[in-house]
Amino acid sequence: MRIGVDYYPEHWDRTLWTADADLMRETGVKLVRLAEFAWCRLEPRDGAFDFAWLDEAVALFAARGIDVVLCTPTSCPPMWLYEKHPDIVHVEKDGTPTNLGIRSHRCVTNPTFLHYADRITIEMAKHYADNPAVVGWQIDNELEAYFCYCEHCIGKYRAWLQKKYGTVENLNRAWGNVVWSGEYSSWTQIRPPYGSLPHAWQNPAYMLDFYRFCSENVIDFSNRQAAQLRTHCPGRPVTTNVWFCEHMPDFYNQFAGLDFISYDNYPATRLPGDPESCYSHAFHLDMMRGVKRQPFWIMEQLSGGKGCWAPMEKPPLPGMIKGYALQAFAHGADTVVHFRWRTANIGAEMHWHGLIDHSNVPGRRFDEFADMCKTAAELEKLQGAEIKADVAILFSFDNEYAFKIQPQTDGYYYLEQLQRLHRAFAGLGLNVDIIGQHEKLDGFRIVCSPEMYVTDAGVAQRLHDFAAQGGTVILTTRSGVKDEHNNALMAQLPGTYRDMAGVHAVEYAPIGWEQVPVAFDDGTEVHAKQWCDILETDTAEVLARYNGDYFRGAPAITRNLYGSGRVYYIGTVGTQPLYDHITRMAVKEAELSCIPDLPPRVELVTRTAKGVTARFIFNNDDQPKSFMLDGQPITLAPFEMNVVMD
Ligand code: GAL
Repeated sequence: MRIGVDYYPEHWDRTLWTADADLMRETGVKLVRLAEFAWCRLEPRDGAFDFAWLDEAVALFAARGIDVVLCTPTSCPPMWLYEKHPDIVHVEKDGTPTNLGIRSHRCVTNPTFLHYADRITIEMAKHYADNPAVVGWQIDNELEAYFCYCEHCIGKYRAWLQKKYGTVENLNRAWGNVVWSGEYSSWTQIRPPYGSLPHAWQNPAYMLDFYRFCSENVIDFSNRQAAQLRTHCPGRPVTTNVWFCEHMPDFYNQFAGLDFISYDNYPATRLPGDPESCYSHAFHLDMMRGVKRQPFWIMEQLSGGKGCWAPMEKPPLPGMIKGYALQAFAHGADTVVHFRWRTANIGAEMHWHGLIDHSNVPGRRFDEFADMCKTAAELEKLQGAEIKADVAILFSFDNEYAFKIQPQTDGYYYLEQLQRLHRAFAGLGLNVDIIGQHEKLDGFRIVCSPEMYVTDAGVAQRLHDFAAQGGTVILTTRSGVKDEHNNALMAQLPGTYRDMAGVHAVEYAPIGWEQVPVAFDDGTEVHAKQWCDILETDTAEVLARYNGDYFRGAPAITRNLYGSGRVYYIGTVGTQPLYDHITRMAVKEAELSCIPDLPPRVELVTRTAKGVTARFIFNNDDQPKSFMLDGQPITLAPFEMNVVMD
């Protein structure tokens, strides 16, 4: 595992640079990320570039054997640019331009912004093309699929729709615009979703295309930057750093144009008291690995107490700095870059803590980081080791967007069932891949496809084939509900999945925060929440029935033999024991070997390299754990990772 740090030389007096670089080298840091947000120092005046300070910093690190990842600074245009072209900011929902004062408020469609962004990117790329210390590029920072209401975005949206639908008549039909007299007679009538009313009041078909457009828009920008970097600084891999934000671009499309994934990983420092909570960041890590089905980077890793965007939180507990970095490695991150070397003494983020505090006196967290760097070096032989999974969970950005557009019922969100299934399989010590729904399913034994809400015919067909050929599919409620435009389909649910599931819903009850008991045949009782499909079987057998409400006795969970495979249908959203129960059944039937008695909050990932099998056993808890694994006693301190190699 290669360890890096995020460093902002422009925030510090130059007298600190050398001591910082020396300490990094001594500690085992192998990489720094530089120049993110530094546009005002790289181009202090229009067209006047100054790379001298950055050259000095790069040279300082290079001399100590520390590689550099540079960032395009486009998230923070300089003040002279805003003064000269005040219109480059993005425009809010109420039509007003965003005010200055924070970062990322430029519109990535604005041609004037793009002219300047291209120029600084190309200048940087050319300047560092021959510098071997620069080993890669990060585009911008945490590009979000913002909703921007500026005239350029509106124009681009209309052109995007015109390309997709050809005529307004086609678009009217696809969106069902006859409702509320919403039919357009010209493209110029199309506007983004202005106003203060909730998005759920808008036409869902119109909204889904708007989400898709905003995602593609930001991806256009990242592809544009990638092309410039590749042309002018060839041979260096290009990425952008992402996180699970409100407006996520479609990561699968975004990273199709980039060389590797990088993710900003900030696990919670306060453990939830509620045992039902799915808090392990393993889900996010598995999802990131699944975006390109390749090893990935953490570009920002938890290093200190969070704050500044919200009141300050507890610092990472003893063990977390090391444990969470190793957890990321276990799940496929081969480079982990800590955010940030030292806590800023200036600026809005001075309470988002780094490895070293304001005092510049290295303390407990730094010592743990230094210890982790040693462990990272010892794990060198596992760099790139394979994570082979028999279980996959499918993710879809259309479904993520559609659930945001039309919240289904109180407390129901798209990711929950994916996370619960992940937790259930991971709790059996199984590796789990979280992959885009368009991926091939070859090689998996069990595929979970929760909430296949917006129907994609190709994906549905692949799931049918997978089950018919002997695979196990776990389907859930809210599948087959919508067509590709986000209009409701005229079929009993789960629509296109009905034949493979062998069951259909005669009614559904969105129960919000209420709970309804669900009883399995063997007497196990769990709880349904948020949603209850009231099912009638076609060919499936009933595994569990509701034990309350007006639909008491109706099937809640079924299993169908389909071709040579099996299809489970979970007609509800359950508490965790519901998923634990079903996954145990599915794993047993699929004859996968698992570890049925891992203690709660202990995670196990298996990685294989040439001749080595390594088990990463992680205690994601603030209590020590002792247990037997394959006849061997294992003892783990809070947040300790034990790597057992065969
Ligand atoms: C990240 C961001 C960093 C920094 C950090 C702490 O989301 O990329 O630049 O702001 O959060 O707030």
